[in-house]
Amino acid sequence: MVQKLKVGTLISGGGTNLQAIIDACDQGRIDAQIVFTGSDVGGVKGLERAKKAGINTFVVDYARIIANCRQIRDLDSLLPKDFDPEEILGKQRLVDVEKNHEKALFFIKSRVIAERQLLDHIESYDMDLLVLAGFMRVLTPYFIDRINTSALGHRIMNIHPALLPAFPGTDGYGDTFRYGCKIGGCTVHFIDYGEDTGPIIGQKAFEIADEDTLEDVKEKGLQKEWELYPACIQKFAQSRKVISI
Ligand code: GRF
Repeated sequence: MVQKLKVGTLISGGGTNLQAIIDACDQGRIDAQIVFTGSDVGGVKGLERAKKAGINTFVVDYARIIANCRQIRDLDSLLPKDFDPEEILGKQRLVDVEKNHEKALFFIKSRVIAERQLLDHIESYDMDLLVLAGFMRVLTPYFIDRINTSALGHRIMNIHPALLPAFPGTDGYGDTFRYGCKIGGCTVHFIDYGEDTGPIIGQKAFEIADEDTLEDVKEKGLQKEWELYPACIQKFAQSRKVISI
């Protein structure tokens, strides 16, 4: 019998990519099973999709945590004991520390406080791969190093709505459309210490016609994402099988 890849998922919203992965697992198109779905926002449709599929869910409310961090006098009292600011600031490529040290430090510390809560949930599961399926938060080296613990290396995948390295950031399809590109696409890549910079696993492209609106571009892109993400998870599952022989 094939040992299924145990996949954890993180989302922020509608979860159509999550649904595509759930369907691919259920229909036996990929050798994987989803072991949890976590969200940084409560009440989103993606959580409903997970519950309907019988998947355990949890929420780590980033907005509330960050608001709380702004209010509290002794922010450091909330930080995990194993957080080393010099180490994490030195490794990360998310914020410009030279430009505004204070702001950069607050950004990293508040995210690490939220990430510790994510890790507390995630560490209670047996997981081979973490899949970010429309998870709209960056992850610091504090979190990444605590997931990528195996000698096999990268274990966090992300889907990005553009053909990386073009158009990193939060609005890939919008940026592609406004630039006047005639080809758009999506990318699945591993997460590293930068924003949308990690090694590319797979990409799919589509044509943008002159009469296409931004909505058309998003629609065409999502259709490609739903094919690409399960295929990349399967590629990872296959590579694991080869390695474990
Ligand atoms: C997708 O376009 C994904 O590439 C981006 O956010 C969107 C999420 O869609 N990161 P969904 O939540 O999977 O429907």
